[in-house]
Amino acid sequence: MPLDTTSYEIPVARSAADLREAVTAWREDGHTVALVPTMGALHAGHISLVELAKQKADRVIVSIFVNPTQFAPNEDFSAYPRTEAADAEKLEGKANLIFAPDAADMYPDGFSTTVSLTGVTEPLEGTFRPTHFAGVATVVAKLILRAMPDIAIFGEKDWQQLMVIRRMVTDLDIPVEILGGPIMREADGLAMSSRNVYLSPEERKAAGQLNIILRETAESVAKGTPISKATAEGGKRILALGFDKLDYLEIRDAASLSAYADDKPTSPARILVAAKIGKTRLIDNMPV
Ligand code: PAF
Repeated sequence: MPLDTTSYEIPVARSAADLREAVTAWREDGHTVALVPTMGALHAGHISLVELAKQKADRVIVSIFVNPTQFAPNEDFSAYPRTEAADAEKLEGKANLIFAPDAADMYPDGFSTTVSLTGVTEPLEGTFRPTHFAGVATVVAKLILRAMPDIAIFGEKDWQQLMVIRRMVTDLDIPVEILGGPIMREADGLAMSSRNVYLSPEERKAAGQLNIILRETAESVAKGTPISKATAEGGKRILALGFDKLDYLEIRDAASLSAYADDKPTSPARILVAAKIGKTRLIDNMPV
């Protein structure tokens, strides 16, 4: 399939071969390449990653692929917003190429390989979404190996995902630099997410308080409150806001995501939360 240059202002590669051809031509001209993997439904958070990519490399690829293997059967794969034309418009003047393969191209008949990690994948999201990170690691490995970029950029909003990807490229000697882009927030501090569109006005109001509780809990621990006490109080406040279920509110080592044995941070730490309001599961995190 030739590169699609007619649908949008930015050319679209829909197969690995087309992507490689475009990247090879850039390499021959001496250009460096950054990849920003996304599942589309682009918002200002994604665009900030693309802007960062543009600062760091000569050419920017944005992949758009709603990856079925990272969704559990009870999750929102079929409902996940798919907005390719609007996404392409948002990328005008920012990205040089969109890589938008279909599922049959990424996972052809007979596909049998899974990249699965122990350790960093196990707590937090791993407890509630046990198959999620194998799906993420497998698709990210494929996207990186297809594009062979110098740099790949991921949002810090999915902090555990970023740590999983760093671990994977280190363990598998994949020659790419992984960069994290800071979380973009709405005016009230709600972390930007493609899933925020699911929130009703009332849920949206409560969701805007989550980051405040997160920050105050982190500050309390930084001032000496034991982690278990501060997170128990923070958890109660989140439920009192109208959240239906708190999956976790935890403070962990920022890189390994291991828990602290003595109830206080003894290394650079991160506070991480996942909570459900109505049908929407929100996650957020920040440094302690
Ligand atoms: O963060 C996401 O949007 C996805 O998990 C990613 C990294 C694009 C893999 O599908």
